[in-house]
Amino acid sequence: MSDHNWPQKSREMHNHHVDSTIWNDFQFRDDDIVVATYGKSGTTWMQQIIGQLLFDGTADVEIAEMSPWLDLRVPPKEVKLPAVEAQEHRRFLKTHLPVDALVFSPKAKYLYIGRDGRDVVWSFYNHHLNANAMWYEVLNDTPGRVGPPIEPPREDIREYFLEWLERDGFPLWPFWENIRSWWEVRDLPNVEMIHFSEMKADMPGQIQRIADFLEIPIRPESWDKILLHCSFDYMKEHATKSTPLGGAFWDGGAQVFVNKGVNGRWTEILTPDDVAAYESRALSELGEDCAKWLETGAR
Ligand code: A3P
Repeated sequence: MSDHNWPQKSREMHNHHVDSTIWNDFQFRDDDIVVATYGKSGTTWMQQIIGQLLFDGTADVEIAEMSPWLDLRVPPKEVKLPAVEAQEHRRFLKTHLPVDALVFSPKAKYLYIGRDGRDVVWSFYNHHLNANAMWYEVLNDTPGRVGPPIEPPREDIREYFLEWLERDGFPLWPFWENIRSWWEVRDLPNVEMIHFSEMKADMPGQIQRIADFLEIPIRPESWDKILLHCSFDYMKEHATKSTPLGGAFWDGGAQVFVNKGVNGRWTEILTPDDVAAYESRALSELGEDCAKWLETGAR
């Protein structure tokens, strides 16, 4: 294990959503699992898969409750840390941090999911546009916020996308460094990179791959239940189990959170120049191999 160049935390990250310092006080266990993404990239889907693998295909595993977003500022770490410390099952935690703002354990297992930035923005826009007053209140008014508040978006998704691209992740957090930092550690033995498109194209194959990586045996009699419970339709129907606070942050309820589950909705709205601007930025930020992976999942 000492042969590897383990990532070291080199900075903290703070914004309306995030406080990375919680990881400094988190006590790792050797079998911890960390699900990492930039956001809107299939995080919940992966949590559902892990919940199904750990609990043998049991219906209605409360993954939102069990698998907290550790670096989200709410509830504060004084509440969140004792709750995860009290968990007796194998823990699976969620993060949206780049690797260099995390405390990295050589023993925990990390699953990073990539999704094309254009699909991520389409998903975020729906999440952000439909969020209710309570969402803004909780994010902006919980004490300890560093940086500006998050405001409601303008009702033009193309403008939202162009501003996100121009201001690298605005009004969320930087995009390219997130992808790049995880791509750089992809060969570590405890890191597995999975693409949203791979999960869509071959969910059974990816679930098996995840189970192998996490060393969780699957009982043949549980397989059909696991597949059913990880399907989009099932997850949409049971979205209150996987969505923070059962979906109370969206007036449309948890179904807003599990929205459409498809890629490429941006093709109807972005102009060829917009697409070219995104693709050339991806190339310059990520390099050819990583940009190709992010777009397609191909390696
Ligand atoms: P859309 O908003 O494009 O529909 P995250 O959990 O990281 O926030 O990602 C949310 C995205 O994952 C949403 O995308 C949601 O629909 C999609 N998703 C969640 N469960 C899914 C599933 N079982 N199959 C396909 N997509 C799923």
